[in-house]
Amino acid sequence: MAIQPSEAKPWMLLLFCGLFSSVLCAKDLEFTVELNNAAVVKGSSFIWDCAAEGALPIDITWRKDGQAIVNSEQHTILRNGSLYFTTIERKKQDEGVYECVASNIYGTIVSRANLFIASMSRFLEDPQPVTASLKGVARFRCYLDSIPQADISWEKDRLPIPFNNRFVVLPSGVLQIHDIQESDAANYRCIAVNIANKRRSAEAPLTVQSTIPLLDDVDDMRKPRLVSRSGSTQALAGKTVILECLFERYSLQDTPPEVTWTRGGQLLYTNKYSVYGRSNLRISDLVVFDSGTYVCTARNVETNGIVSVNIYLNVQAPPTLDMVPNGVTRPRASTARFTCICTVDSKPTPTITWLKDGRKIDISGRFNIIYDGLVIVNVQKNTGNETDEGLYQCIAENMYGRAQASARLIIEVAENSPNPPRNVAATVLSSTSVNVTWQAPIMNITVDILTYTIHYQLMEKSYMSPV
Ligand SMILES: *[C@@H]1O[C@H](CO)[C@@H](O)[C@H](O)[C@H]1NC(C)=O
Ligand SMILES: *[C@@H]1O[C@H](CO)[C@@H](O)[C@H](O)[C@H]1NC(C)=O
Ligand SMILES: *[C@@H]1O[C@H](CO)[C@@H](O)[C@H](O)[C@H]1NC(C)=O
Ligand SMILES: *[C@@H]1O[C@H](CO)[C@@H](O)[C@H](O)[C@H]1NC(C)=O
Repeated sequence: MAIQPSEAKPWMLLLFCGLFSSVLCAKDLEFTVELNNAAVVKGSSFIWDCAAEGALPIDITWRKDGQAIVNSEQHTILRNGSLYFTTIERKKQDEGVYECVASNIYGTIVSRANLFIASMSRFLEDPQPVTASLKGVARFRCYLDSIPQADISWEKDRLPIPFNNRFVVLPSGVLQIHDIQESDAANYRCIAVNIANKRRSAEAPLTVQSTIPLLDDVDDMRKPRLVSRSGSTQALAGKTVILECLFERYSLQDTPPEVTWTRGGQLLYTNKYSVYGRSNLRISDLVVFDSGTYVCTARNVETNGIVSVNIYLNVQAPPTLDMVPNGVTRPRASTARFTCICTVDSKPTPTITWLKDGRKIDISGRFNIIYDGLVIVNVQKNTGNETDEGLYQCIAENMYGRAQASARLIIEVAENSPNPPRNVAATVLSSTSVNVTWQAPIMNITVDILTYTIHYQLMEKSYMSPV
């Protein structure tokens, strides 16, 4: 069914709302702009956007590390809900876990993220001197810590390296030089840049010689010699990764080795894979399924002498939710259940925290975690100043990010319905029996209690059902 916007009539919207009320239309309260982890430059100002929609009015407040943020010289909560930092100051003062807290008549939800101050360490690894043979290969590497990740480029005698496919720069901080020529003999250094800083590494010389030193182990197959390759590599889903593999000829008489990549014995030929530089493997649009062992094989074409190396790739991803809690309406004293399940791609496996109206739920007593759900037994409304009604929210979190979803619990209290029994207590007698005791409720109304119903759940491996 294709409906042009002009044909869509208001009654259609009503119909859809009637059919899927809790899904499409009745937005109790939800975020339209959520927080994402942010890296901010020290000394700059910063606006962190947050917005929610639902029944009006919506009140937005902020917390840092659990403490309410009050308007001050450092922060202002803007009218549209965003948080304005006048200047980002020090690590201790501003780094932390921030929450944007949205409330309306139905309850409260939070959006949570980390704020980092952008930083760059000194070089933890400077390029080292390299001696390489004419027509051979050379490799330099530099390394530092950087938030967010630094872009690395290279200089030859303090000028950008020639734009030439003999020079291959890997984002991990590696420079490969192929088919070495006399003119490549020079000093090389790397330049790291992020939003906060720029650093130059120490320089290292490349010395070019016209012979490959004799090897101790004489190999009749003249197998290619491994110069370097990636170790176990981690990468994020959705991104691109480059696996390094660099071989050198066995000796001057040999032609450069032929390099092929395989996985599970199959050549990698779809356009998801490409050769980066001369011999590295580029894999784009990563998914968790791309995790596994990749094999780089170098062959001396003349002798068929072969060498293979294995590289393990581990693709990880921030949480995404496969199943989110749905709004439920339950009679008083019954059991309510909310489910929150992450996709199998969420790696490492996220931890799930449940909140009620923006506060972490203490999992004890009437609140339990069973399989992937929050189960609230004997739901209460208006007992003293407490009620179980409100917004229940799950936050899934791993080292790469967070995902959240929320739903509303409504508790129905039928008119003229009896009050719940008092002093309910259970004593375990054996693995299959409990002694449950209670007292009759205090009654105001003129109905007789005919029966009491006991609900219980069997807790077996994969079986659970209310009886
Ligand atoms: C909120 O207001 C600030 C300042 O006017 C603006 O920069 C920001 O983009 C606004 N946020 C949203 C979500 O519209
Ligand atoms: C509810 O009442 C108890 C005692 O009557 C009190 O200690 C508690 O602070 C109250 N809670 C709220 C949220 O007002
Ligand atoms: C169950 O508990 C009640 C109250 O403590 C007690 O009177 C009764 O004997 C118990 N029944 C069994 C079968 O243990
Ligand atoms: C009994 O009824 C009165 C008036 O209808 C009400 O104020 C009171 O809260 C009720 N008590 C209980 C225990 O339900």
